Amino acid sequence: MTDWQPQAATLANKLAAESAISDNQWRAAFEATPRHVFVPRFWELDEYNSPSRLVDGAISTHRPQWLEAAYSDRFLVTRWVPDGGRRAVTSSASLPSLVARMLHVLEVADGHRVLEIGTGTGYNTALLCHRVGAQNVVSVDINAGLVAEAAERLDTIGFAPTVVAGDGALGAEDHGPFDRILATCASRGVPSAWIDQLADGGRIVTPLTIGGALAVLDKTGPGEVSGHLDTDGAWFMPMRPASQPLPDGYLADQPQPAPDDVTHLSVSSLDPEALADPDFRLWLLLHQPQTHFVEHFAPTGLTVHNGVDIATAQQCADGRLQVRQSPRRLWDTVEAAWLSWVNHDKPRRDRLGVTATAGGVQYAWLDHPVHDQRGGGLGGVLRWPLPTSQ
Ligand SMILES: C[S@@+](CC[C@H](N)C(=O)[O-])C[C@H]1O[C@@H](n2cnc3c(N)ncnc32)[C@H](O)[C@@H]1O
Repeated sequence: MTDWQPQAATLANKLAAESAISDNQWRAAFEATPRHVFVPRFWELDEYNSPSRLVDGAISTHRPQWLEAAYSDRFLVTRWVPDGGRRAVTSSASLPSLVARMLHVLEVADGHRVLEIGTGTGYNTALLCHRVGAQNVVSVDINAGLVAEAAERLDTIGFAPTVVAGDGALGAEDHGPFDRILATCASRGVPSAWIDQLADGGRIVTPLTIGGALAVLDKTGPGEVSGHLDTDGAWFMPMRPASQPLPDGYLADQPQPAPDDVTHLSVSSLDPEALADPDFRLWLLLHQPQTHFVEHFAPTGLTVHNGVDIATAQQCADGRLQVRQSPRRLWDTVEAAWLSWVNHDKPRRDRLGVTATAGGVQYAWLDHPVHDQRGGGLGGVLRWPLPTSQ
C-alpha cells in the first residue's frame, strides 16, 4: 500500500500557492488523483534531455525516488523510441503546473462534454473525470497500447471514460459535439475536425508547435475559432500523423551546411540577450514557422536554421555578435523580425492570437482578430497567414 494522499495534497497545495490552481474543484481533483498509479515507471533524463535510466516503482530500491517524482512538479517521460542513435520521447506525464494552467484556461463547467487529445498516461483524463464525470470525457491517443494501459488505470480508481485509439487530428466524431477540446500534444494548425466537432459556445485549448504557444480559442462563428495565446508557454511533443511512427520534426537533425555554403560574415547589431526572449522568438517563429533555434552550450552563441539555410551567431570578446551564414542570409530575417517586434512595442505573447476556420484557413494577429491587412511582410502587418499543414 502506498500512502499517497498526503503527497497528492502537498502537490495540490504547491500548485495553489503558485497560482497554477485557482479554484477549489480543480484543487480537489489534484488531491484525489493518485498520479503514481498513472506513472508506474518513468525515465530519468540525462544532461542532453535524453531518456537514460528507468525508475520503476515495482523495484523496491527505486520506490522512494519514484514516489517523490510522481508527486513533484515534474514532467515524467514514460515512452521513447530509438531515432537515429538518439531517443525520441513519444509520451510523458505532463508537468503538473502546466496541466493545472491548461485546465484553468479551459474554463470547464459542470456537465460539459470534454474531448482530450493525447491520453498518454491517463492522469489528465482522470482529473477531467473527477471534474465533469467520466461519462462526459472522451480521450484519444494514437498509441493503442497507451490507451489500453490508461483505461486499466482509470478503471482501478473507478473511472470509465470513453477512450479511443486513433489519430487525434480527426477528433472523435461519433462522441461529439464537445463543449471543450483539450490537446496535450502540439499541432501546427487547428485540425478542421476539432472545429467541426466543437459545440456553440465551445472552447479549444491547444499547444502549437510554434514557439511554445498555447492557443485558447473560442467558437466565434460557424466553422470558426479565434482567441488569444496564453501568457504561459506550453512546449509539448508534436501530434504525430497516423502514417508516421516517429514524431515529425521532434529532435530534428540540425542541418550542417558545407563550409563553402557559409559565405557571408557580418556583425549583428542585435543584443544577444534579447534573442533569448521567448516572446521575441515566438514573434519570429509565427512569421517564419520553418525556423528552428539551436542553443550552443559553449561558447555563447545561437544557430538558426530552417532546414535549408543556416546562420550562426557567436558572441565576440567585445560583446557583439559575429554572424556566419549561407548566401540566402537567414539572419537577415531574424533582424527584420526584431525590428518589427520593437516597432510593435515588443508585444508579449498574450497580445497575439490565432483565428482558424474549418476550411483550413489560419492566421495570427496582434491585439485583435479583425484588423486591416496591409502588406505581407514583417513590417507593419498586424494580421498574417499561418501554414496549417502538420
Ligand atoms: C505529453 S503526452 C500526453 C500526456 C497526457 N495527457 C498525460 O496526462 O499523461 C502526448 C501524447 O500525445 C499522443 N499523440 C501524439 N500524436 C497523436 C495523435 N495524432 N493523436 C492522438 N494522440 C497523439 C502521444 O502518444 C502521447 O501519449
